[in-house]
Amino acid sequence: MDTYIENLNWRYATKKFDKKKKIDSENLENILKSIQLSASSYGMQPYEVLVIEDLEVRKQLLPAAWNQSQITDASHLIVFASLTSISEAHVNAYLDNISKIREIHIENLNGFKDMLANTVLKQSAADQKIWAEKQAYIALGNLLSAAANFKTDTCPMEGFDAEKFDEILGLKEKGLSTAVIATIGYRSEEDVAQHAKKVRKNKEQLFHLI
Ligand SMILES: Cc1cc2nc3c(=O)[nH]c(=O)nc-3n(C[C@H](O)[C@H](O)[C@H](O)COP(=O)(O)O)c2cc1C
Repeated sequence: MDTYIENLNWRYATKKFDKKKKIDSENLENILKSIQLSASSYGMQPYEVLVIEDLEVRKQLLPAAWNQSQITDASHLIVFASLTSISEAHVNAYLDNISKIREIHIENLNGFKDMLANTVLKQSAADQKIWAEKQAYIALGNLLSAAANFKTDTCPMEGFDAEKFDEILGLKEKGLSTAVIATIGYRSEEDVAQHAKKVRKNKEQLFHLI
């Protein structure tokens, strides 16, 4: 447990990555696993994740991310692309997957199907989009903690133009939109941000023991 908290203290939003250091495939696989194993509302995982290593694509995205150098200097760019609306087809695909993996007859999932129809599918498209983005942020949180645990640096990023990202990555036609992004790799020794003390609410401000 001590090590886990130590690793969370070690993590910081990396401003300058070491361009020369790449994440090896085993580490990357484990970090991606933490995304895959993330909890989501009803388990629907209403997002897809782009793992971008291609430098040319990242160069194209750079101006759409306020020219933040992490985009091109990091080892990989992770784009959490969430669904812009949730359709009955999404619900059915999810139910089919449960039925297959758990070896349950699809009819036995009718109660769950009704529940999804009366909640997720009842929302407006705008609310569904917000709901889907929230789920992507849970996966982002897991990515940050898992990477820290593997002594891998990250920078979660909201400083980008989602419309431009969607256009460059061809997400709109897939019913997806960029919710949030993260860069992952290894800190540059020159990154002064790594020496800054953590600024956090104190326990009294943050926690209320009831
Ligand atoms: C959702 C989210 C978006 C963020 N966007 C950016 C960003 O675009 N660029 C950046 O350099 N840092 C970004 N940050 C990093 C935060 O500024 C940083 O996490 C916060 O100041 C706390 O510092 P620490 O993570 O180093 O402990 C973002 C963090 C989060 C969680």
